[in-house]
Order: sequence, then C-alpha cells, then structure tokens
Amino acid sequence: MSKITIAIDGFSSTGKSTVAKQIAKHLGYVYVDSGAMYRAITLYAIREGIISKANFDEKALVAHLTKIDVSFTFNSHLGYGEVYLNGINVEQDIRTLEVSGFVSKVAAISQVRSKLVAIQKQLGIHKGVVMDGRDIGTVVFPKAELKLFMIASAEKRASRRFKELIDRGDKITYDAVLKNVTERDYIDTHREDSPLVKAADAIEIDNSEMSIQEQLDHILGLIDVVLGKLHET
Ligand code: CDP
Repeated sequence: MSKITIAIDGFSSTGKSTVAKQIAKHLGYVYVDSGAMYRAITLYAIREGIISKANFDEKALVAHLTKIDVSFTFNSHLGYGEVYLNGINVEQDIRTLEVSGFVSKVAAISQVRSKLVAIQKQLGIHKGVVMDGRDIGTVVFPKAELKLFMIASAEKRASRRFKELIDRGDKITYDAVLKNVTERDYIDTHREDSPLVKAADAIEIDNSEMSIQEQLDHILGLIDVVLGKLHET
C-alpha cells in the first residue's frame, strides 16, 4: 500500500502530538515531533548560558549550532522516537515551562530553522511519516498529501497543558501557562522566517469541543479519503 506524508500544524497545545502519535501507530508510520527539536536546541542554549531572562546571545547560539546534534531514537515501549541532544535523551527535560518560555525566540532564528528543517525533510524522505509543528505543511513538506491545521481556544489549550504539567509534578500556575501559550502564539505567528500560518490546502480542525477519540475518528476518516483517491489513480 502506498504511503503518504501527513503534516499537522497549529497553535501551541492544540493536541497535535497526541493525535499525531495515534495516527502514526494506527498506520504504522513514523511520528516526528518537530517542536521537540526546537526545544532541544533551547535546552542547550539555557544550559550553556546563551539564553536567560536577562539576555539572549543570538550570535553565540548560531556559532554553537555545528556543535549541536539533535536526533530521535525509537523507544519500542512508548512506540515513538524520543529526542536526543548530543547523544543524551532529553525527552523529559525539554517539556518544562522554562524551555517553553524561550523556545519561540530560538525558533525565530533562521539558522536554527534551516538546520532543523534539513533534518526534518530527511526524516520524511521515504514518506510514511506524521510530523507535527508550525511550518510542516508550508515549508517542510509543502507537497504532503494530507495537511491538518489544529486550533482550539487559548483557555482550553492552557488548561490541557496545565494538567499535563501538573500530572508530571511541575509546580506551575494556570495563569503562567496561559501567558506562555498566548506569548508563543504571538511570536510564532509574527516571526519573519516561516511564521505559523495555515497552508492554503490544509484542513482546519477546531478541537475545542472534541474528545480525543472524536478527533482521531474524524482524522482517520480524512486519511481514508486521501488513501482512497490515491488508489484510484
Ligand atoms: O507546546 P507545544 O507542543 O504546542 O509546542 P511544540 O510543538 O513543542 O513547539 C515548541 C515551539 O517550537 C513552538 O512554540 C514554536 O516556537 C517552535 N516550533 C517551530 O517554530 N516550528 C516547528 N515546526 C515546531 C515548533
């Protein structure tokens, strides 16, 4: 059966990764969390003192890029690849509110984007990939057979992310999460290089009032249509 490329873009905490993992498992495709790659570089910048609340030395980060290796290693227990920074698993470390607070600034740097986009394109070269992010349908895979654009109200998104962080034991407030979500939306949609925008041929899904199962069923229906058309030709 021929394989397709599925690009899922959208605002922060719209549940892209949840549904992308489910789809990849269902189809036996590879799931790639492109946001994890931007988060890994951000974690590197924090650890090296390149970015902090007081200062962001963009030039230093660009100079360090050749020393930063971001990769995925498949975890058979989880069923998807975990992100590694210079050979070390950072899957948990990149999910903090501190990293979220800086990541959109790091992701706005063109040199960071071109480094990661090149890796992302390579990961999808054989198709059979579900990738989520902000520029997947517009820049990374402009020819993807299925493009989805996920939206939900800022409050819904913040409460989902707040629950996720509280469940893993982080000490944070709902207001801090809401502030981060709206700040990232602003930076991601206003940056010069590859801003977050819905591709002209993307299907918009507002999941504010959808359960995870309803959303999955809806998307699997869309995939069936695309695969059906492909087999007709
Ligand atoms: O928190 P959430 O899961 O919504 O975001 P993420 O997918 O982990 O992405 C974190 C940040 O990385 C985003 O807010 C963007 O600034 C950046 N990003 C990007 O610029 N391009 C991508 N393809 C993916 C993420």
